[in-house]
Amino acid sequence: MTRPILLSTPHIGDRELEFVREAFDTNWIAPVGPHVDAFEQEFCQTIGAKYAAALSSGTAALHLALKLVGVEPADEVFCSTLTFVASANPIIYLGATPVFIDCDRVSWNMDPNLLQEALDQRAKRGKLPKAVVLVHLYGQSADIEPILTACNRYNIPLIEDAAEALGATYQSKSPGTMGRIGIFSFNGNKIITTSSGGMLISEDENLVAKARFLATQARDPFPHYEHSEIGYNYRLSNVLAGIGRGQLLVLKDRVAARRHNFSLYYQALSNLPGIKFMPEASYGRSTRWLTCITIDPKKFGSDREKIRDQLQQQQIETRPVWKPLHLQPVFKDCECINGAIAQELFETGLCLPSGSNLTETDIYQVIDAIKLCCTY
Ligand SMILES: Cc1ncc(COP(=O)(O)O)c(C=O)c1O
Repeated sequence: MTRPILLSTPHIGDRELEFVREAFDTNWIAPVGPHVDAFEQEFCQTIGAKYAAALSSGTAALHLALKLVGVEPADEVFCSTLTFVASANPIIYLGATPVFIDCDRVSWNMDPNLLQEALDQRAKRGKLPKAVVLVHLYGQSADIEPILTACNRYNIPLIEDAAEALGATYQSKSPGTMGRIGIFSFNGNKIITTSSGGMLISEDENLVAKARFLATQARDPFPHYEHSEIGYNYRLSNVLAGIGRGQLLVLKDRVAARRHNFSLYYQALSNLPGIKFMPEASYGRSTRWLTCITIDPKKFGSDREKIRDQLQQQQIETRPVWKPLHLQPVFKDCECINGAIAQELFETGLCLPSGSNLTETDIYQVIDAIKLCCTY
């Protein structure tokens, strides 16, 4: 039986086990230790960040980020609608209300003009959001500059959810480094992984120190256990930080491999009727974490679900593009500014197998299977 071709699986390099073994040999089997410190420093060097706190997940990082900028019950938080649910769940953890913003067609990320208009309208009504969560989707940076300008105009902190965009660039900078706080994920399907893990970064040393404090049960500096605030158990294990150090060493290779996957798909499929690829915006470089296409069923002769189903029968895993959050039952009562573009991308969009450990033979197998679905 042939092995399944999966969407995005972990791809371990040569050094991870060495770092993990070192953690075992030195008995640093704890959510603190030399690998955690080194991983934070090496992560900062890799992406040009100033300060970082290694955490147990990207979701934990977002939760702390929102708390650090002061989000409270009764606040509104603006958030991209085309994203994974983890971008918005922490808004609810804090009792606040998400307001979703549609994407543009250029990058599939938050439309800067829509954000600007929505903020102007809120300002007229006299109630501004407490923060903006900007997601960088599928390995591509959003158009950060105009978004930052819109936020700065009203002094609203920008939180960058760069969980899917490690290794990407925006005008030669790394997404995640330009807002008040940036967050990353090292979940098993991400471009590099620690099995589970996350990072919170900021230019503000005090914010990152406070993130570490909150992530270790908000323990006050006393010899006994003293607490004057509610905290969380959100630090990354020293063992997993060891995996992260090894993975950072191969980040560039992983980006190159995923971009190569994209170019193979693009060469073979972009001329098929009704197939379009997620565009790469001119301001930066995408990692192509996932290669995403849209299918126009009238031109292609088959719709997204039929293609997904047919590929599944050949053990090829694909996924619809994220179902926008404003269409999720759990957020049915939340406001969305537009949303039609995100909805269209969900209805027609498909993510193809994109792992950096796929072979060219795997990719050509996916290409052939897609070509067979085309009935025009
Ligand atoms: C856009 C986005 N935000 C947040 C997260 C949450 O990260 P984690 O799974 O590490 O909690 C993910 C991925 O899982 C994601 O894709």
